[in-house]
Amino acid sequence: MIFKNTFFSLMLIIFITLSCAVDEDRKLADESNTSEWLAYGRTHSEQRFSPLQDIDTTTVKNLRVDWYLDLPNDVALVSTPLVIDGILYFTGTMNRVRAVNATNGKLVWEFDPEVAKYIGTDRKPGWTQSRGISYYKGKIFTATWEGRLIALDAKTGEPLWSVLTIDPDKKMSITGAPKAFAGKVLIGNGGSEAAPNRGYVTAYDAETGKLAWRFYIVPGNPADGFESEAMKMAAETWTGEWWKYGGGGNAWHGFTYDEELHTLYIGTGNGGPWNPKVRSEGGGDNLFLSSIVALNPDNGSYKWHYQTTPGDAWDYNSNMDIVLATIKIKGKDTKVIMHAPKNGFFYVINRETGKLISAKPFVETTWASEIDVITGKPKINPNARYDSGSVYITPSPHGAHSWHAMSFNPQTGLAYIPTIHDAAIFDASKINVNDWKVNPGKGGIAVGLSDPDSLPRPYKGSLQAWNPVTQTLAWIVPHQEVWNAGTLTTAGGLVFQGTASGMFHAYNAYHGDMLWTFDAGLGISAPPITYKIKGRQYIALLVGWGGAFAGVGNKALGWDYNRQTRRLLVFSLDGKANVPSQPPPYFVTPIVDMSFKIDDNLASRGRDLYWQCFNCHGAHVIAKGMAPDLRASPIALSEEAFSLIVRNGAKVNMGMPAYKELTDNDLKALMHFIRKIANESETVSSVKGSM
Ligand code: HEC
Repeated sequence: MIFKNTFFSLMLIIFITLSCAVDEDRKLADESNTSEWLAYGRTHSEQRFSPLQDIDTTTVKNLRVDWYLDLPNDVALVSTPLVIDGILYFTGTMNRVRAVNATNGKLVWEFDPEVAKYIGTDRKPGWTQSRGISYYKGKIFTATWEGRLIALDAKTGEPLWSVLTIDPDKKMSITGAPKAFAGKVLIGNGGSEAAPNRGYVTAYDAETGKLAWRFYIVPGNPADGFESEAMKMAAETWTGEWWKYGGGGNAWHGFTYDEELHTLYIGTGNGGPWNPKVRSEGGGDNLFLSSIVALNPDNGSYKWHYQTTPGDAWDYNSNMDIVLATIKIKGKDTKVIMHAPKNGFFYVINRETGKLISAKPFVETTWASEIDVITGKPKINPNARYDSGSVYITPSPHGAHSWHAMSFNPQTGLAYIPTIHDAAIFDASKINVNDWKVNPGKGGIAVGLSDPDSLPRPYKGSLQAWNPVTQTLAWIVPHQEVWNAGTLTTAGGLVFQGTASGMFHAYNAYHGDMLWTFDAGLGISAPPITYKIKGRQYIALLVGWGGAFAGVGNKALGWDYNRQTRRLLVFSLDGKANVPSQPPPYFVTPIVDMSFKIDDNLASRGRDLYWQCFNCHGAHVIAKGMAPDLRASPIALSEEAFSLIVRNGAKVNMGMPAYKELTDNDLKALMHFIRKIANESETVSSVKGSM
């Protein structure tokens, strides 16, 4: 009898837990809830579409700042905030999470995971930024750069549990948002080219933090046995001794839970190293690289996959958003996935079967001419594999679309893609595959990359409205700069997007006419959100230029580490806040010190070491705003001060990592390189001035 009672109460507990999970997921999937923004892409569908329409094509002209929050200790702000029960939550620099009142910005709590304390070496670039957080049953989930997944009490910010999701010896890191669903919380990681890494995602119990399951994206050494049938199947598509080089596939973004079909979709990463001749020397599709993999959310078992780039050689990962919708295909309501990965094709996939419905290029694609709908495979241009010399490839490794959010509006039937128009020259003719055989730990990309003389279009970025049914472009707004932010679309017939140039625009979602603009005075990298509280519709946006690759290129946009104020801006039709204007774009004057005698050998060694610094201090030592410009830094002129900061970590709490492994000679080399570039920049500007 006692046994029976225990049995029944156990069953009851299981039943209650399961049905609560279902209720919570129904809430997270509810498109009609407009007072909150509960998940990364607003709801489980990841559409970033809000039914709110107070702000519409006619009223948007009255949109003003309602309240704002200056964030003087933040730098790059790239995250999507959440709004739950009147509180707005966001993650900022150094993975700090804040909860503020969503109607006035008053701080409720702040949680600092103290990443500087935990950070190891070799995980440096990008450690100051995170794309978001997740919510489930009263908890906020956040993941830190070095690999912790932390559950916080949403009401108080108290940490409830914390687990380490990455082996500290592995050079992997997290910039993405965790994804909570069906009683679990999932996290992946990045680092496909940082070292021989084998990508995986892990699901933990949302209540306790206990590991529920792990899914590896690429197979390990067959001699160790495979974790699952899926890994055995994947291993058939690899050749040579791939496990020695890691394989990659790291899933750093792109997790979607399908509440209707109780299925989880993972967007997987590129190969590591990029060059397949090194990674899988006899060829092969290399599953599950650059794919969407559908999993059973309860145990992580494989359901189906669709690979967007078989045998990837160009860093064409499929980590971009996986957006769910039901759209009419040949007159029939069809449950689909929409996906615009780096490789430049827009995919519509039947999410019940995993079968490709259609795929068409949304930018110029020189690597493949088309996707065969029957086989689902691309027709790869034979020249695109770059073994015998240099090849012009577009899209570039930055992708035609990266993590900047795509949105979908079921009323216009259009997807809004922050698009990148870029190209690169690939050349592996000088790569010696044997170098990796001797030293498989090298990691890296195993191919030479350079900038081409010309780009596919006269502009580097655009906002594109794409029709997924006809697979055609509805409209396009060109942007001069690259790396424009993610989009939000509403039933008010609007699309919102911030740009690299610091402008926040609202467009007519049907035609693309620009209806409203706000000058934020600083590059925008985060996507906007919307919600309605006490009859007022708000639009919230974090302003703080950043994200991986925001530092590339040889052009500064005038965003300066020490000048413009990073902010959370919140707009409404009744907004009356007076936001102090930003200082104008600022371009540093490099310090030219004639008494500093540059040693060319040291400078050239410094150039090789600088790759560890460029993500924050900018390519070509031209800072783009995420860190001070070293050409103008007096610290880069003093060996003592330089070593205190760069090696001893004097500024580690401000987001400047400590490079304990650098020798005196390394530090000198970096200083000589910085001086050389500073002098060259000065020459360039004086030559320009005299013309
Ligand atoms: C993760 C980002 C990041 C990386 C990577 C990084 N830095 Fe920094 N660095 C910063 C930030 C942020 C500051 C400013 C800290 C502060 O507020 O004082 C800084 C400050 C500095 C300063 C002081 C500049 C000044 O005038 O105050 C020097 C010198 C410097 N970094 C050198 C380097 C070198 C050399 C490397 C590569 C070996 C490097 N940094 C890599 C973020 C970074």
